[in-house]
Amino acid sequence: MSGLPRHLSASKALEARSAAAHRAEPSRVVRKRAVRAEAGIDTLAIRGGREPDPTTGAILTPIYQSTTYAQDAVGVHKGHTYSRASNPTVSALEDALGALENTPPAVCFSTGLAAITTLFLALLKAGDHIVVSDVVYGGTVRLLNLVLEPLGITASFVDTSDVQAVEDAITPRTRLVFAETPANPTLKLVDVEAIARITKKLGIPLAVDNTFLTPVLFRPLDLGADIAVYSTTKYIEGHNATVGGSISTRDARLLDRLRLFRKSLGSIQAPFDAWLTLKGLKTLPLRIRQHSRSALRVARYLEGHPKVTKVFYPGLSEFPQHDLALRQSRSQFAAKRSTKNADSQTFFGGIVAFEVAGGVDSGVTVMNNVQLCTLAENLGATETLITHPVSMTHGDVPREQRERTGITDGLIRLSVGLEDAADIIADLEQALDQVVTKATTRATSTRTTTTVKTRGCARQLV
Ligand SMILES: Cc1ncc(COP(=O)(O)O)c(C=O)c1O
Repeated sequence: MSGLPRHLSASKALEARSAAAHRAEPSRVVRKRAVRAEAGIDTLAIRGGREPDPTTGAILTPIYQSTTYAQDAVGVHKGHTYSRASNPTVSALEDALGALENTPPAVCFSTGLAAITTLFLALLKAGDHIVVSDVVYGGTVRLLNLVLEPLGITASFVDTSDVQAVEDAITPRTRLVFAETPANPTLKLVDVEAIARITKKLGIPLAVDNTFLTPVLFRPLDLGADIAVYSTTKYIEGHNATVGGSISTRDARLLDRLRLFRKSLGSIQAPFDAWLTLKGLKTLPLRIRQHSRSALRVARYLEGHPKVTKVFYPGLSEFPQHDLALRQSRSQFAAKRSTKNADSQTFFGGIVAFEVAGGVDSGVTVMNNVQLCTLAENLGATETLITHPVSMTHGDVPREQRERTGITDGLIRLSVGLEDAADIIADLEQALDQVVTKATTRATSTRTTTTVKTRGCARQLV
């Protein structure tokens, strides 16, 4: 042993080891780590499209928090020039999302709505027409009615669960069909294969907002859709930590156009958000299976509760489109993948909607009395969130459209999280118990209702 103090001898040893390691390092071994497209969904989510960082070997792509990139000479660069056009961390997420859905790298955006806005502006101009699901995320309705209509782009909101209605709504000016399935918040489903047969015949692109099921449970592109749209804010990132969006397509020209429009509109995702999303994506299949198991338990509990008048969940046999839900979630991809897991159960996602006897006041009582579930806007994350669509996510949908499509004032949307299902059910139970108390109180006083209305009005619509 040398006479050097212990910490110095240790650092000498480290230095020597590191020098030896450098000497032993082969000049440049290029390892092929790509995961095969046929790999199971859990493998794809963790490994698909991912490579260790080429400069350091870091197993996770670092957060490249840099605005710009030094160029070797005029016009000679390493693939990135300015982070509004592209960023290495965002590109890593795009590679991973592409591998998950068996497409070229996806295009990622600052929010789900930024993805939708960029898509619409890339495909539509003044005079064009779009056919959209009549039940759709409220922000999509607001974008079409308040932003795009004044620019001369018109929309028909159509029951996209009715194939004939979609065909009838298409005009010579229709340039895009945009369907959301399961729809936010009533979970109405779209038969993507049937709609795709019509749009293909007419040469109109079909885009599907697949935010609720994600490519783990449903792959619209494999059923004939041309474009899949995601709010990664929801299940894909899954931890209530970021907002983000992405678009997948196998159309190379559209991909180029989306990147051009993203650069022009400035709608790219931030590198830190992309990094968190990469991290969340690894557990997406695990999480979504658990979300689905718990959601089914919660839906069955609600279905059997005497104060609950309606439950919307595609996994319930009473759900009007249960057969379609089964058929679509058993689409070629889902069936093949689920057999790889011991778990060959069919999954229907984590969102449940319901109405409580007594209408709006009772629904509001439930939402104001939950303790574990959080009253908030988002969905698809680890925490169970309870939402009042009419005063929150769908407040900008015209009342007539809401009433026609079943988005009633008393509708409650529950994003079933990853807490123990028994705890979520116990929380709902105690909140539903309050409905009796409040109903009794209401017979003698209107104070409760007045308070709720005041609170509801103060909410900011997103
Ligand atoms: C189905 C669906 N699509 C798109 C969006 C918009 O996503 P973001 O909030 O990330 O802009 C949402 C948001 O709730 C949604 O539910």
